Amino acid sequence: MIPYYVNWATTDRCNLSCLHCRGTESEELSTKEALNLVEDIVGLNPPYVTLDGGEPLMRADILDLLAGFSEGGMTTYLITNGTLLDEKLIGKISDLGVKLMISIDGATKNTYEMIRIGANFDQVLKNARDCGDRGALKAISMVIMKPNFKEILPMIELAKELGAEQVIFVGLKPPKEVNFESLLLTPDQYRESFSAIAHENGIETFVDEPFFKPVIEELGLSRDEKCLESGILSNQGGGCIFGKYMFIEPDGEVKPCTFAPMSFGSVKDKRLNEIWNDMMSSDFLKKIWDPSTRKGRCGSCVHKECMGCRSRTFALTGDWFETDPACPLGR
Ligand SMILES: C[S@@+](CC[C@H](N)C(=O)[O-])C[C@H]1O[C@@H](n2cnc3c(N)ncnc32)[C@H](O)[C@@H]1O
Ligand code: SF4
Ligand code: SF4
Repeated sequence: MIPYYVNWATTDRCNLSCLHCRGTESEELSTKEALNLVEDIVGLNPPYVTLDGGEPLMRADILDLLAGFSEGGMTTYLITNGTLLDEKLIGKISDLGVKLMISIDGATKNTYEMIRIGANFDQVLKNARDCGDRGALKAISMVIMKPNFKEILPMIELAKELGAEQVIFVGLKPPKEVNFESLLLTPDQYRESFSAIAHENGIETFVDEPFFKPVIEELGLSRDEKCLESGILSNQGGGCIFGKYMFIEPDGEVKPCTFAPMSFGSVKDKRLNEIWNDMMSSDFLKKIWDPSTRKGRCGSCVHKECMGCRSRTFALTGDWFETDPACPLGR
């Protein structure tokens, strides 16, 4: 088995302080170490790699890293807040065959700037439109939460207008600075959000939330909507993909999920394929992948493929196998 994809947080530095940010705190790899890692990721041959951070455009050598992936023939996506882009940089990134995913967590200036503290809505829209005009805008990403869920449909319209291929809606995980519950949708708000997304909206949408399918099934919406067939982030199996992809922290620690407080080793000490082999033979991951280990509502749930978000569950309950506290069907 190869990873569904590799997600590398290339730096912990960022020019914004978003309300919901999970944060990353570790010293980034040197250019030499980072280029070695590019080679290792290419060698592992996942279907694609996503680079984020922190803000990946804070790295002075980001174009060299992207060029390394390009030369290796790797499908590469850069996840960015979009604020540091300009026409020249967009041209260089797109000439390397890399596509951008720009995070815009609000369809109005007020909501966006309230969440993405330090960013300017008009500037980001201009930059996103420039990417769209070059055919380099893979997706707009929006984390769905209390302050912005009413803007899901306007966001879909905005993404179309900007020239994006997809809109990715991401489920909230515990933020670093702000209380999780203050941003978490109520069960009814989840239902309202998911049914808005599940309709044919004239653009591919993908929901990065394991209980999306269970909830829309409960609402009587079809599983065969266009929104379920696509997705840059892997939805193979439809549920939580803990340990089936790799997340690499800025300092090279390799984790089974962006949000998991555990590491399978550092790329400073081991080759990436060795770490992947260790992951694949891990008893802990085998337990995580086994639906019969689930407790509570997740344990008795009919949607076995969902599994609930394991990292969020652990962060909120201290137990890897409990019910996902965010799930509207489990509350
Ligand atoms: C950590 S950011 C790094 C890349 C870049 N700085 C950006 O904002 O797009 C990557 C993605 O994770 C999302 N994200 C950050 N904190 C999150 C959280 N607590 N729950 C879910 N997604 C989160 C961001 O909104 C963004 O789309
Ligand atoms: S979400 Fe992205 S842009 Fe916002 S603070 Fe976090 S790393 Fe920075
Ligand atoms: S109760 Fe658990 S398994 Fe069932 S839909 Fe919710 S998160 Fe998924």
